[in-house]
Amino acid sequence: MSATVGHALAAAIGQGLDRLDAQLLLGHVLARPRAWLIAHDGDPLPAASAEAFARLCARRSAGEPLAYLVGEREFHGLTLQVTPAVLVPRPDTETLVDWALALLAGDLADRSAPAVVDLGTGSGAIALAVAHRHPAARVEAVDASAPALAVARANGQRLGLPVTWHHGSWFEPLAGRRVDLVLSNPPYIAGDDPHLDALRHEPAMALTPGGDGLDSLRWLAAHAPAHLAPGGWLLLEHGWDQADTVATLLHDAGFGEVQHRQDLAGHRRCTGGRWSG
Ligand SMILES: C[S@@+](CC[C@H](N)C(=O)[O-])C[C@H]1O[C@@H](n2cnc3c(N)ncnc32)[C@H](O)[C@@H]1O
Repeated sequence: MSATVGHALAAAIGQGLDRLDAQLLLGHVLARPRAWLIAHDGDPLPAASAEAFARLCARRSAGEPLAYLVGEREFHGLTLQVTPAVLVPRPDTETLVDWALALLAGDLADRSAPAVVDLGTGSGAIALAVAHRHPAARVEAVDASAPALAVARANGQRLGLPVTWHHGSWFEPLAGRRVDLVLSNPPYIAGDDPHLDALRHEPAMALTPGGDGLDSLRWLAAHAPAHLAPGGWLLLEHGWDQADTVATLLHDAGFGEVQHRQDLAGHRRCTGGRWSG
């Protein structure tokens, strides 16, 4: 058992845990912000808290994402609850949201209540961020995983953001309908990618469609034209090295104005195109 807050943190860091992770985990156990931990370095740590902290540190060291251990992750200014049923939202995906918001304020600004759909919504991150930042949009979201959709729906309710949630595969719940903006961060890692092992705590169906990793992107590019209103846009997130392939998929499907957006590391992480109808 560690005697004080400071001792517990030092011990965890000494065992190889990242300093910020250790602070966030102990803050979670004590229900205190990081600033409190620093100010109360010498406070005694109750035995039950020390044991709970040690258990979380062991799980973090074994590779469980911090977001699952503390139950939440910030995305585009929103605090989202996350469980192992959903992919942990990544900062790179904010690039897709920023591009969507720019289109809603630009090319799509003439549509008073633009219809936006987020395919493969996971925690609801993209749909909720768009609904939050562009309240005039009518936002819908789809996921093939019922447990993931339950997390997304609960996030929507807790945040008071009006998104319509659908359980189904890609465009299936939109049968016979067209929207103004289709957004998706689909699974895109190749089935034999060695990085999948490090991501083993996240749902496999959120990470990879198997094979060369492109099946979901191929499906979305090929079927989006049947669900886009004239002048509507399809924006896709993809792997750092898939931009040229996705651009070809969009050209082949008949999209114009095909272009990319870069992630925080400068990789072309999103590719989109306009459907002229
Ligand atoms: C990479 S995750 C993205 C989650 C979330 N949009 C985000 O950016 O954090 C891909 C999501 O697609 C969902 N998915 C996989 N196959 C699907 C399908 N055929 N139809 C709908 N959703 C699917 C997974 O369940 C998962 O939630």
